[in-house]
Amino acid sequence: MTGGHLQIVICGAGPATNAAQLVKAAQHRSWTATVTATPSAMNFIEPQPLESLTGQPVRSTYQSSPGTRRSLPATDALVIAPATYNSINKIALGLADNYAMTSVAELIGRQVPTVIVPFVNAALAARTPFQHAVASLRDEGVHVLLGPDDQWEPHLPGNGNERQKAFPWTTAFTTAVRLAHEPRRPATGHL
Ligand SMILES: Cc1cc2nc3c(=O)[nH]c(=O)nc-3n(C[C@H](O)[C@H](O)[C@H](O)COP(=O)(O)O)c2cc1C
Repeated sequence: MTGGHLQIVICGAGPATNAAQLVKAAQHRSWTATVTATPSAMNFIEPQPLESLTGQPVRSTYQSSPGTRRSLPATDALVIAPATYNSINKIALGLADNYAMTSVAELIGRQVPTVIVPFVNAALAARTPFQHAVASLRDEGVHVLLGPDDQWEPHLPGNGNERQKAFPWTTAFTTAVRLAHEPRRPATGHL
């Protein structure tokens, strides 16, 4: 595959400001990208530069701009970054209470190769619900980029601004490309 389509979902955490880096990493490898943001993430990003880069509106609600499609475009990989404590717990539980979460639920269900890059502090990451969420998502075949193998660890509370500079945008994309090239797991659902 020389190129594909990347769906990016941005949640409400500091690194959201720099999400253009992920779009640029994809475009550098001849991928196209579109951006969806949670309602909270809209407080962190400037949609216009992202829209100029991708040529597509940033979607945050079910309402689509005139002329844009309502259904999800064909997607070769999904990257959720930065992923908040809140959204990671919701995705693992299958909650779909906003447009971004509904899209994520459907794309994971379609077995689109998915990478989640958490941006959580160590106190939140230590919570049992979060640890269950990460384990459950990994069980489902989602790559949660977290831990020593991924060289991406939760930061100390209060250290987010400093940590934001090291956010692994490029690794997120290269991991998504690697997953997109792997054979898909057989579906285990019983429906
Ligand atoms: C300035 C600011 C920084 C935040 N940073 C983080 C963060 O780094 N990680 C996180 O999980 N939540 C962070 N939050 C809290 C989330 O924005 C909050 O939980 C929100 O409900 C997340 O919504 P979402 O998951 O739908 O994007 C931050 C909030 C604010 C106002």
